[in-house]
Amino acid sequence: MSQRTFSIIKPDAVRKGYTAAILAEIEKAGFKIVSIKRMSISKAQAEGFYYVHAERGFFGELTDFMSSGPIFPMVLEKDNAIADFRTLMGATNPANAAEGTLRKLFASSIGENAVHGSDAEETAAFEIGYFFAGIEVK
Ligand code: PPS
Repeated sequence: MSQRTFSIIKPDAVRKGYTAAILAEIEKAGFKIVSIKRMSISKAQAEGFYYVHAERGFFGELTDFMSSGPIFPMVLEKDNAIADFRTLMGATNPANAAEGTLRKLFASSIGENAVHGSDAEETAAFEIGYFFAGIEVK
């Protein structure tokens, strides 16, 4: 059944000029790009997005990084989008990511790992609503 997920091309990948190559892989894998924009977020906005990780030791590093430069948040659609996008992304740590995955291809470390993808339906709904108004994701 058709499903939506939320993704971000992170600041490291944007800085390195990988945006178009990542989008090409995403489309090649069968995802429809429903909505996308380029923007920068503040540290406080990054903290709001990653609130579930507030107690983790890497929270400061993660939110500094995500507010360090432009990102491309986007909404993606396909059958089984949430699980399939997690597979396409690969493991959090690119050293453990399978061949051909976005993190294997484009990420450099566990912190600077090129892309984000929602991990569940409720998370996807929260994340889409955090970055996009309803009218942008019709
Ligand atoms: S874990 O350990 O499996 O729960 O990690 P995960 O849920 O995949 O990670 C959640 C997000 O935190 C980022 N992360 C880190 N950032 C900086 N430093 C370290 N050590 C680190 N470990 C995990 C990771 O990239 C995830 O970001 P998103 O945007 O959700 O992919």
